[in-house]
Amino acid sequence: MFTRLICISDYEQHAKSVLPKSIYDYYISGANDQETLADNVAAFSRWKLYPRMLRNVAEVDLSTSILGQRVSMPICAGATAMQCMAHEDGELATVRACRSLGTGMMLSSWSTSSIEEVAEASPETLRWLQLYIYKDREVTKQLVQRAERKGYKAIFLTVDTPYLGIRFDDVRNRFKLPPQLRMKNFETNDLAFSPKENFGYNSGLATYVHKLIDPSINWEDIKWLRGITSLPIVAKGILRGDDARQAVKHGLNGILVSNHGARQLDGVPATIDALPEIVEAVEGKVEVFLDGGVRKGTDVLKALALGAKAVFVGRPIIWGLASQGEKGVQDVLEILKEEFRLALALSGCQNVKVIDKTLVRKNPSAVSKI
Ligand SMILES: Cc1cc2nc3c(=O)[nH]c(=O)nc-3n(C[C@H](O)[C@H](O)[C@H](O)COP(=O)(O)O)c2cc1C
Repeated sequence: MFTRLICISDYEQHAKSVLPKSIYDYYISGANDQETLADNVAAFSRWKLYPRMLRNVAEVDLSTSILGQRVSMPICAGATAMQCMAHEDGELATVRACRSLGTGMMLSSWSTSSIEEVAEASPETLRWLQLYIYKDREVTKQLVQRAERKGYKAIFLTVDTPYLGIRFDDVRNRFKLPPQLRMKNFETNDLAFSPKENFGYNSGLATYVHKLIDPSINWEDIKWLRGITSLPIVAKGILRGDDARQAVKHGLNGILVSNHGARQLDGVPATIDALPEIVEAVEGKVEVFLDGGVRKGTDVLKALALGAKAVFVGRPIIWGLASQGEKGVQDVLEILKEEFRLALALSGCQNVKVIDKTLVRKNPSAVSKI
């Protein structure tokens, strides 16, 4: 009998049982010893909720806005590369599931469906493009222009990947795309990470990044990007208050507190622990978002209480896709939505506007262990 999958960890276990090992390894892995990978999830437990009682929560409104656009809930699909390895419908399934939930999707520029295909699969879904800056600025510029033309509402510039983090299993598995897939936003085999191209005997993706992504990017390149698009730009991968202030100074419109799902520099803090410093640093001038380790409705509530406007989920979307394609992603988002609704209600909040930092405190025993 098919066991009902009722929480995100059920979806993860099910995905593990259906995905080929090297693909599951690519999705699940963190960098090096994966200290931060475990901590991204565990850190949420170190923050305790302090609910208010007797607040009439017969009606609870989860809706909010992100960079001026309405969403039905502050939970969106994050950018994860190469989703067609998890299910043949890949990114098209994800964007359609986001439409069903009334929420947004961040498309990885390393997607296995193109910017245009994703837009056409669901024109009305709120979409953003995640971007890497290529050594070839023309390649980068074209991605931005294609996103603009197809109605994407913002660029999330990944700032934590001048090189790819070491993911041991990808090195062992010599990770590359299966033969039928390529990164659909690119024409040539090298840019498309085509399995026909030789990416060496390491993690193929690490070789790809080394060859094509510009490790020299710095704040001057932010000025260049700011100059080529009128779309809002969000810095994805900021972990310090001073960097957040720099981003604001350079005209960026938001900060996504992220450690890339713990796949880049191991040993960095869990994102929920990094969030307060960044919220304080930007002084409300731009919206702050969070991703990394969000697996439950209470995680979303804690992130919002600490100042995030919304959260993004990475791997949970993949587990939904692998389990049941579009329906699986829809279920995963629905589970998070209902868990968040209950967490809000049980905390005495009728809507997201009344969430404030008095709802969470760091567990005193966790603090004393530091
Ligand atoms: C399989 C996988 C692929 C990813 N691909 C990208 C990517 O192409 N670009 C990017 O900026 N971040 C990428 N990320 C990072 C995610 O955008 C996000 O920061 C992370 O998944 C959030 O953590 P979570 O998986 O614990 O929710 C990827 C993460 C995973 C797990």
